[in-house]
Amino acid sequence: MAETVERTVPGKIILCGEHSVVYGRPAIAVPVSDLRARARIEPAALPGLRIVARDVQQTVSVHDAPPHNALAQAARLTLERLEAAAPSATLTVQSALPIAAGLGSGAAVTVAIARALSAFLGAELSADELSALTYEVEKIHHGTPSGIDNTVIAWEKPVYFVTDHPPETFAIGAAFDLLIANSGIASSTRAVVSDVRHRWLANPEFYDVLFDCVGAIARAARSAIEHGAIPALGTLLNENHELLARMGVSIPQLDHMVRAARQAGALGAKLTGSGQGGNVIALIEPEQQAAVAAALQAAGAVKVWHTRIGGTCD
Ligand code: MEV
Repeated sequence: MAETVERTVPGKIILCGEHSVVYGRPAIAVPVSDLRARARIEPAALPGLRIVARDVQQTVSVHDAPPHNALAQAARLTLERLEAAAPSATLTVQSALPIAAGLGSGAAVTVAIARALSAFLGAELSADELSALTYEVEKIHHGTPSGIDNTVIAWEKPVYFVTDHPPETFAIGAAFDLLIANSGIASSTRAVVSDVRHRWLANPEFYDVLFDCVGAIARAARSAIEHGAIPALGTLLNENHELLARMGVSIPQLDHMVRAARQAGALGAKLTGSGQGGNVIALIEPEQQAAVAAALQAAGAVKVWHTRIGGTCD
């Protein structure tokens, strides 16, 4: 009988380029090692595969769940890819990632299910296979995803991403520190991406210029990260936030948190993910952590996490 298996998978943040990435411009995303989704699978006496997701209070039978159930679909696509039958097992999913907050919670849960289930069956899927399978499940959550979330989470590496191009990983010249602050406002990526599409269709010239400017920021940010030019990266994050606000995806609460972080000394701050809620990120010098975190909390953040990109937190 197969042994119990557990796999954990990081969340993600987009540093630059959300939304414009849906329109073919580059974006940069990094895994967040400190915030992870976890899948544990153990043999069960009853036949069939059951998935228990306590965070969303769901228990699904992979055999009976409808095709739009993302948890069951993650397992089904994994079994299809492995040409395997569902084992008699219980797979429990738990995630430290807030849902509908732009941190890739859906993609992380899918990759965790796929990795745990394949290991339970004695197999291993490549990062490319995991990414492709997760993209299929992301369509249930998001409609027309660019592919950035599944890519960065399946590869567990910083990526410079352009839709329909192989993901490029790149070197980090100097580790840098980020605070991730949750506004406590849930937002649907599917709905925000669809709003942007309607506005783009109504005013393509204006939106194409915004997308081009964000694309240029993503290219400059990659160079800043590669050269360890962290203050320059901060300026680029600030500029990216202003362009996202012009796209109509920020809200007063996110603007307020971004301003508070900058006033407390952050090198730069912006919303991350689809916007209309979710999280902001603030780039900080390590010694600013307490002051900027306090400012974010005073500005309404319900939770603030610290993460280091290109190194580990002390
Ligand atoms: C969502 O994490 C990022 C968006 O750019 C949508 C996408 O890339 O699919 C808003």
